[in-house]
Amino acid sequence: MKAAVLHNYGQELKIEDVELEEPRKGEVRVKMKAAGICHSDLHVIDAHLPLPVPIVLGHEGSGIVDAVGEGVASVKVGDHVALNWVPSCSKCYYCKIGRPDMCDEASKISLMGTMLDGTTRFSVDGKAIHQFPLTGTFSEYTVVPESAAIPIRKDVPFELAALVGCCVITGVGAVVNTAKVKAGSTVAVIGAGGVGFNAIQGAALCGAKQIIAIDIIPEKLEMTRQFGATHTINASEKNVVSAVLDVTDGLGVDYAFEVIGRPETMAQAYNITRKTGMTVIVGLPAPNENVTINAFSLPSQTKTLTGSWLGQGNPSVDYPKLLDLNAAGKLKLEPLVSKIYSLEQINEGFDDLKAGKNIRGVIRF
Ligand code: APR
Ligand code: ZN
Repeated sequence: MKAAVLHNYGQELKIEDVELEEPRKGEVRVKMKAAGICHSDLHVIDAHLPLPVPIVLGHEGSGIVDAVGEGVASVKVGDHVALNWVPSCSKCYYCKIGRPDMCDEASKISLMGTMLDGTTRFSVDGKAIHQFPLTGTFSEYTVVPESAAIPIRKDVPFELAALVGCCVITGVGAVVNTAKVKAGSTVAVIGAGGVGFNAIQGAALCGAKQIIAIDIIPEKLEMTRQFGATHTINASEKNVVSAVLDVTDGLGVDYAFEVIGRPETMAQAYNITRKTGMTVIVGLPAPNENVTINAFSLPSQTKTLTGSWLGQGNPSVDYPKLLDLNAAGKLKLEPLVSKIYSLEQINEGFDDLKAGKNIRGVIRF
């Protein structure tokens, strides 16, 4: 089968023949139908997120269960599934307290590029190829733990189902689960990409009265209005902090979300939040980066600064719910897909992501 392999940071992915091991106990093989091209994959290519190479990237995907290993009970051959890159063990402290997004088992391997047991299912000429932790969706088939294959309704196009696995749950969840945005509040989202658009529509779902989209690409800013943005700010033309103060009667917003992954925009998100407001960091910085914020403001303005991982969600419950919301017309998935690529066109997809051309580019197998 064919897969896209990153051999060295900064290089193009190479489409090549890759061997895939049979699913082991508790694992599932999925015939991929669609895979979203997310900035987290680009972070790996840019060596910003230090996963080992060679590696099959991709973590936002959907497909059909094609084989199951011993003991698999929650899915069967033929089921449609959306993949989950933070499977939970249900045994660790965090799973037990209802925070599967913080599962210790999943965290342990988050920078290893492997399955839960530290091994990988992909190889070329007997040499192991890593995989985006527990997934590896830029491949015609992949093998994942049972808890990473979430059964979903069959009437959803695979391109849309793929998106719930990362950009939708991450963006909507940051707003709904982490911030618990209240109706009538004011919200700013810095970074209108695949994840940011979902934070915007999450804020609209919560009934926010003012939603300020901030980006550097005018076409994308214009489109955010379809998802509920009431104001837009072009960060390459305006000082973001004063522009936000201007449209919030000098107060700042109740909630700000950083959805890029840069320390400067994280500080900006904190600085546009009003006294007692909440800042949520969603974008992924490199592991060694730090953010500078004014220390005195913490006690004197009593703001909350927090983060959100996988939208603080629980995929087995949330994916079906998000797809139901889409079917009910409350969540827009179709307009998030800007362009469809073949696996062979994956490097073009990454170029378009870098150039900020797409909300989401999706590979169709
Ligand atoms: N100010 C405002 N917007 C910016 C700036 C800036 N200084 N720099 C970049 N942007 C915008 C880009 O124009 C783009 O629209 O941020 C957006 C980022 O979107 P995508 O590249 O589509 O990234 P996405 O896949 O949404 O991921 C965003 O969340 O999960 C994490 O790892 C992921 O860190 C990444 C972040
Ligand atoms: Zn992602």
